Amino acid sequence: MASPGQKVVLITGCSSGIGLRMAVMLANDEQKRYHVIATMRDLKRKDKLVEAAGDAYGKTLSLAVLDVCNDDSVKQCINGIKDRHVDVLINNAGIGLVGPLESIPIEEMKKVFETNFFGVIRMIKEVMPDMKKRKGGHIIVVSSVMGLQGVVFNDVYAASKFAMEGFCESLAVQLLKFNVTLSLIEPGPVHTEFEAKMIQDVKQKEYPGTDPDTVHYFKNVYLPSSVDIFETLGQTPDDIARCTKKVIEASSPRFRNLTNPLYTPIVALKYADETGGLSVHAFYHMLFNLGPLMHVSMTAMKYLTCGCLRSRTVSPN
Ligand SMILES: NC(=O)c1ccc[n+]([C@@H]2O[C@H](COP(=O)([O-])OP(=O)(O)OC[C@H]3O[C@@H](n4cnc5c(N)ncnc54)[C@H](OP(=O)(O)O)[C@@H]3O)[C@@H](O)[C@H]2O)c1
Repeated sequence: MASPGQKVVLITGCSSGIGLRMAVMLANDEQKRYHVIATMRDLKRKDKLVEAAGDAYGKTLSLAVLDVCNDDSVKQCINGIKDRHVDVLINNAGIGLVGPLESIPIEEMKKVFETNFFGVIRMIKEVMPDMKKRKGGHIIVVSSVMGLQGVVFNDVYAASKFAMEGFCESLAVQLLKFNVTLSLIEPGPVHTEFEAKMIQDVKQKEYPGTDPDTVHYFKNVYLPSSVDIFETLGQTPDDIARCTKKVIEASSPRFRNLTNPLYTPIVALKYADETGGLSVHAFYHMLFNLGPLMHVSMTAMKYLTCGCLRSRTVSPN
């Protein structure tokens, strides 16, 4: 249970990756300012978190079951918290989906929206009324760079994050009236199980109903580039946890928080041309014409990114 003066932070999806590292970092805050309720849908997956939390487990970190796709699970979890009081809600749970559209059943696409979009809304609906009543609270949503810029073969995942961005942009205005803050965390690639699951998935799949050219572009053009981008530009879950802690502790937290400065030019490209043609053609060119040069361009981009771009992001350091 939280001690007086401690902020109650509830995080979804803490069995691995970003959620796990956020829970560990906040629970180990030197000034012990947070009591973290680290949630996951299956407590059998708690061992990695418990081990990483060390002494904080049972003191500033407690565990709870929560499946963001299940109304009863969400209600039960929030009802189990003293006075249903949550100061900071971090919506982190999410799933990815990559591949040729023709091969993905609609049911699988709905699962992505059920988790990444409705899962977040389900959480916010449960916690927001109490925050509004108390005239205080901070809601954080882990979105993605893909919530701002679509990426080839990630059509449905990007759509789920775009939907989230639109939802948050709309809600943030109303919440301001109640002194409740809403912030988006927008990471680029991060080395987590997300990436591993994607590679594993691709190995197992057959891509039924997809023409051979598209399968070729996906497997032999997109995938090697994607692996390269992860290798060259990927951040660690700790980087994202540090950025998020900064956002929580800021005196006036930003609404949008890109965590990777190397993505600032990509987002800028989109807003520089209102016809949209510039980014569509730039991505086409990068993938299909510059594919073999991708690694070189990525490395160059990493070194050329100047300080002025970094100022538009929340730095993990
Ligand atoms: N990794 C990246 O490159 C990247 C980039 C940008 C944004 N993001 C976003 O970051 C967030 C965290 O992803 P990650 O990279 O840390 O991936 P991850 O290691 O796969 O973690 C995802 C977490 O979400 C949980 N989860 C999935 N469905 C759930 C549900 N219905 N209810 C509760 N929890 C559920 C998973 O739990 P189980 O163990 O039960 O499956 C897992 O703990 C996601 O929202 C993702 O979209 C990731």
